[in-house]
Amino acid sequence: MAMPPGEPIEIPDEVCGPRVLLRPLRPEDAPAVWDAVEESRRHLSPWMPWVHDLRSADDERAVIDRMRASWTRREDLTVGIFDRTTGRYLGGSGLHRINWALRIFEIGYWIRATAEGRGYVTEAVQLLVRLAFDRLGANRVEIYVDPQNVRSRRVTERLGFVLEGTLRRFRAGTGGRPQDRHVFALIREDYLRLAWRGAHG
Ligand SMILES: CC(C)(COP(=O)(O)OP(=O)(O)OC[C@H]1O[C@@H](n2cnc3c(N)ncnc32)[C@H](O)[C@@H]1OP(=O)(O)O)[C@@H](O)C(=O)NCCC(=O)NCCS
Repeated sequence: MAMPPGEPIEIPDEVCGPRVLLRPLRPEDAPAVWDAVEESRRHLSPWMPWVHDLRSADDERAVIDRMRASWTRREDLTVGIFDRTTGRYLGGSGLHRINWALRIFEIGYWIRATAEGRGYVTEAVQLLVRLAFDRLGANRVEIYVDPQNVRSRRVTERLGFVLEGTLRRFRAGTGGRPQDRHVFALIREDYLRLAWRGAHG
């Protein structure tokens, strides 16, 4: 949903945690993203239908162009997750399906296979939750998780997201068939109570 007119919102060019940096992708990131996807096809393909359509670094360049246009229109804020020290590309995340009128944001994420299990996603989601509530006036931040996706569910639980229910046959899975999704969310009151909110990191 487009941003309401007359309400310019500053969105920082990058946000940093202790170990990761999040920023929108640039055309020159395409080869690094392509490498990460190639390395990760087996672990991404059950959950991320788009990997099947990505066949070259040029495809990724076109995706990045579209993401940049959506960012400019404030329709979708997709970011790359980078190692803050080395600059290595680690995966993707962002604020998606934005409803600016109600200030509702959905977070999505994936991490390259060789960076899984180190807490990078948890840190990235913390940064996006803070960005949404502290700087973008969020009322609600959601994460939709396939009921089979145990690792993704653990990210939401680690961060205090509330399981609100299961939407049946709600989203296309791989193969395009509709699948169930757990909906996890934080509303502003939940966020203000989170122990990690004020902590550094
Ligand atoms: C879902 C997915 C993003 C989770 O990634 P992840 O690496 O497990 O998540 P985190 O970065 O938060 O890492 C958590 C793990 O790191 C460990 N860890 C190490 N250091 C840590 C730290 N400083 N902080 C938090 N966790 C840390 C945790 O103990 C946890 O270990 P566990 O795997 O044994 O439970 C990943 O599995 C993935 O990309 N899957 C495919 C795509 C996908 O399913 N996306 C989600 C769609 S909804």
